[in-house]
Amino acid sequence: MAHIIVVGNEKGGAGKSTVSMHVATALARMGHRVSGLDLDLRQRTFGRYIDNRKAFLKDANLELASPTLCELPEIAEANLKPGENIYDHRLSAAVASMEPNNDFILIDCPGSHTRLSQVAHSLADTLVTPLNDSFIDFDLLAHTDAMGDKITGPSVYSEMVWTARQLRGQAGLTPIDWVVVRNRMGAQRMVNKDKMERAIKNLSKRIGFRVAPGFNERVIFRELFPRGLTLLDLKDIGVKQLNISNVAARQELRDLIKALNLPGVTADF
Ligand SMILES: Nc1ncnc2c1ncn2[C@@H]1O[C@H](COP(=O)(O)OP(=O)(O)O)[C@@H](O)[C@H]1O
Ligand SMILES: [Mg+2]
Repeated sequence: MAHIIVVGNEKGGAGKSTVSMHVATALARMGHRVSGLDLDLRQRTFGRYIDNRKAFLKDANLELASPTLCELPEIAEANLKPGENIYDHRLSAAVASMEPNNDFILIDCPGSHTRLSQVAHSLADTLVTPLNDSFIDFDLLAHTDAMGDKITGPSVYSEMVWTARQLRGQAGLTPIDWVVVRNRMGAQRMVNKDKMERAIKNLSKRIGFRVAPGFNERVIFRELFPRGLTLLDLKDIGVKQLNISNVAARQELRDLIKALNLPGVTADF
């Protein structure tokens, strides 16, 4: 059975699609069979990222290990039984088509609450939630007091994950390994960064997630999309010398992969 990794957060701009592409490609490069599914049907960033990779590699006459993109199949309304939801059906059909011949399925979710995203969360063996270092983003996980020190209650997204966990439990599936990944962190130590660190640590015990090392704010993460590349590919397209920031970014990606603790994934690559 393929291991399902869902990348989700109801906040747009958290880094879901960037993380999806980097994790999917890293796993493919390690020799695993990886299929990607983009549930952000409007923006399709992850899908376009994989399309861009295919086009770039073809033009450059290069062969690099890549995730394959699975499209959500269309299903005629007439084929639904009474009360059945079309999105549930389309998602199940997509996962069923990917499951037999993949080691990993990577599902990128939209930055909003949709039926597809909710159901995808209940399919997650591993749930990765990228989070910007901002209390506005944190607010979707939990509410805090005015100082940001005390957690006053859960919020919409963590309640959604809670529901997904319950659904999985009822279906007798293994619990979701929920990993929160801090993204776009500033390089300097700042009061907000320290406060976020404390708040996330505090919350992780309350609602049951792990915190993995994430990515700092780096221009390179924004530059690779048109060519569909990740930090791991640069050497293979002829970049001789990575600058210090890119070496650091590549290490951040390796550390993230290790921290995800995925089945059959060795620590060094
Ligand atoms: N670590 C990072 N450093 C710099 N820019 C980043 C980083 N992570 C993401 N970005 C940029 O932030 C924006 C949002 O990222 P994206 O992956 O599209 O988020 P989401 O899928 O959650 O909406 C994009 O412009 C992306 O290039
Ligand atoms: Mg996205």
